[in-house]
Amino acid sequence: MKKIIKNGTIVTAADTFFGDVLIDDGIIVMIGVDLESEGAELVDATGCYVFPGGIDPHTHLDMPFGGTMTADDFETGTIAAAFGGTTTVIDFCITNKSKPLGEWVKVWHEKAKGKAVIDYGFHLMITDANDGVLAELPGIIENEGITSLKVFMAYKNVFQADDGTLFKTLLLAKEQGALVMVHAENGDVIDYLVNKALEEGNTDPIYHALTRPSVLEGEATGRAADLAGMADSQLYVVHVTCEEAVNKIAEARSKGLKVFGETCPQYLVLDVTELEKPNFEGAKYVWSPPLREKRHQQALWDALWNGQLQTVGSDQCSFNFKGQKDLGLGDFSKIPNGGPTIEDRFTILYSEGVEKGRLTLNKFVDVISTTSAKLFGLFPQKGTIAIGSDADIVIFDPSVERTLSAETHHMNVDYNPYEGMKVKGEPVSVLVRGEFVIRDKQYVGEAGSGQYLQRKRFAAADRIPVKKHPVGGGLG
Ligand code: URP
Ligand code: ZN
Ligand code: ZN
Ligand code: ZN
Repeated sequence: MKKIIKNGTIVTAADTFFGDVLIDDGIIVMIGVDLESEGAELVDATGCYVFPGGIDPHTHLDMPFGGTMTADDFETGTIAAAFGGTTTVIDFCITNKSKPLGEWVKVWHEKAKGKAVIDYGFHLMITDANDGVLAELPGIIENEGITSLKVFMAYKNVFQADDGTLFKTLLLAKEQGALVMVHAENGDVIDYLVNKALEEGNTDPIYHALTRPSVLEGEATGRAADLAGMADSQLYVVHVTCEEAVNKIAEARSKGLKVFGETCPQYLVLDVTELEKPNFEGAKYVWSPPLREKRHQQALWDALWNGQLQTVGSDQCSFNFKGQKDLGLGDFSKIPNGGPTIEDRFTILYSEGVEKGRLTLNKFVDVISTTSAKLFGLFPQKGTIAIGSDADIVIFDPSVERTLSAETHHMNVDYNPYEGMKVKGEPVSVLVRGEFVIRDKQYVGEAGSGQYLQRKRFAAADRIPVKKHPVGGGLG
């Protein structure tokens, strides 16, 4: 079925122009003005932006953590994502040493199958780069199209890997054309500080932040970047929260290293004082790394603007306040880490970024969609509005004023960390491969219609000359 999205303002990472988009068989086949095509359904976008669908490079759906499971699975999570303007997620396939990596990939396929309503790919977590793992990885990269590997430098005795594993993973990634992702915090020192706080009777949520100072994120970020430089490999630092980490990334990039960074809406708009909320409500704001003092927000916005950070992920990892976050009553270290942001990532970045003059429209598209597509091997199938690309499209009304709230969100969780926040703009309709998933703010999708994405290797992005563009747009 053909569709023409008519009279919108089309925005890509490069251009902003008025026009129509003709879609046939799920693909964008023509872009222009006054397009006509026999039998095509007309979709009016007057007064709206026509954006490429958001790509969320960082989600945890249906994930076990701290003895519980995330509240959102691949169905509720991707429906909420679609309402928010996201058409692709890349979720973390969590692993441990109990079985081969390939078995974990099967587990993740089972979680998503029949449930996802938008397209999805997987990153693969590496806990121990032993000989078996190193032998198994090339086959998974080739056959599954999983071209990004995640190493946790924190969560001691749970997810944390040692520097040897990080270095061996970087070497393999260079050889195979994969991108190594790190959760960069010094897990050993955090473990010491957490135990000390608990021994001293400091059990409230605020101690989560006090035991994970920003210097430990900066230290781990710098260490990972140095190892990436030694390995001549490529590194992507997830959920960057602070000035120290931004500076380490900027320093590595100024040397020409292929080091990239992601931040998240929570770090851009919330701060550490949220963890002091009474009646244990601070637990709703427990992320790792933690929310920081307000001054770090400006450093993160500046880094997005000047290209030292390139993407914004949600780090969607939802746990109910009642029955899950409260596992940490009396011991902050038992609060499941993470929060729900998959739905509001897109609008928060538009509203706080574009509307407040911190991002241009094109930069917004770049950080919310395009650069994730490039770094994770999906461009130009995903991440832009171009002839031949998948028709993943968000029709976005910038004039709507609304208030974010758990009362109206679609995530399967009993609170919203942005409760009461006033935002401008709302996705009106969202299409995935030319089919409506959201139409006039109503869900019209189908569980299981999301397709698994085999992704290309990192080599494509690798050819972009980082050195020549120490600051500025695109991947430079
Ligand atoms: O607090 C967070 N970020 N939870 C999700 C797991 C992770 O570290 O990304
Ligand atoms: Zn498979
Ligand atoms: Zn993390
Ligand atoms: Zn995460």
